[in-house]
Amino acid sequence: MTTSPPLSGALTRTVETALAAALATVRRNIETFGPVFPGDTTVDERYLPRPAGDGIAEGGNRGWTTTFWTGMRWLGWELTGDPLFREAAEADAADFERRVRDGEDLDTHDIGFLYSLTTVPAWRLLGDESAKQASLLAADHLMLRFLEPAGIIQAWGDLTDPAQRGRTIIDSLMNMPLLSWASQQTGEPIYAEAVRRHTAQLREHILRPDDSTFHTFYWDTETGEALRGATEQGAHDDSIWARGQAWGIYGFALNYRDTGDVQLLEASRRAADYFLAHLPADRVPFWDLVYTDGSDAPRDSSSAAIAVCGLIELSQVETDPQRAAAARTAADEILASLIANYTPERPEDSDALLLHSVYDLPKNVGVDEGSLWGDYFYLEALTRVMKPEWTPYW
Ligand code: GLY
Repeated sequence: MTTSPPLSGALTRTVETALAAALATVRRNIETFGPVFPGDTTVDERYLPRPAGDGIAEGGNRGWTTTFWTGMRWLGWELTGDPLFREAAEADAADFERRVRDGEDLDTHDIGFLYSLTTVPAWRLLGDESAKQASLLAADHLMLRFLEPAGIIQAWGDLTDPAQRGRTIIDSLMNMPLLSWASQQTGEPIYAEAVRRHTAQLREHILRPDDSTFHTFYWDTETGEALRGATEQGAHDDSIWARGQAWGIYGFALNYRDTGDVQLLEASRRAADYFLAHLPADRVPFWDLVYTDGSDAPRDSSSAAIAVCGLIELSQVETDPQRAAAARTAADEILASLIANYTPERPEDSDALLLHSVYDLPKNVGVDEGSLWGDYFYLEALTRVMKPEWTPYW
């Protein structure tokens, strides 16, 4: 574990101002939305109630991104101590408890995202026993997706769906901390063993030899053989979807922390080095790293925010002090650019904390908008800088 270098006074003041603006927006969103969940991304910089679907009414808790809304509320409470944030987060967490107990919209590996920022903090921060049990139930649901003999957790869809069977995605690295937490809480090694097998497969196959990453990868579910990489949200199968590379930095670092497997530390370093070497001048990536300075492709600020959190985590778990310092410097540079160039001029100009994310460009969904995950990771990044003693929810 390496300690962080001191921040420059200028960056500290910039982050303080940015954090105040971000918290003003989270507060206003609580007042405006109450228990209504917004859509995945803004529409013209405003969040709208989440569309109805899958038998769930408008504003309901479905999909993979509602967790980030709640995560921001927990962060708001930890940062300010204001009960407005805590009460909103607790109400959301109760709805996540209901969702897992009712088995609603759980056919996804994103159960890790969904419960790591909602019921797990309710247990960690408030000792809520019922939230702990709901989190363990969520971990058990996630384990249903572990496929032998491949030793991977299937990402999307029904386990019998031929288009999705045996497929996992780089984002899944962020779903593993829920399983590591479940092993720590129960003393049952089965969850940790799934993490060990799944992360080893991703390290070997989704991280390419040149240190870039595939978005998704298929395994043969009968033989366990690794088959092929493919994209869903990137420019093409062999391209480097920027958010995937950022998930790789953060996800491999967190799983190194939880498993102690030094090959995962090396994987996080490799993902980070590739990401940093393919950034444009302002340090915020285009939505796919095949685009470079001079391109008019959209940027994805959310990838930058995830990378900042990942680089700070990496700097904290690094065993090499020089690498730790370099990761931290890179994180601070990217964060400074996000604050300067990718946030609303005034908090009232947008419901989003961070502008210019891309959700899914090939499907033309959420392009150049705010996004719930972009907002969450931006707020987490500010928190990590201002409150180095903060314990991650992951
Ligand atoms: N986990 C889905 C995404 O990053 O878009």
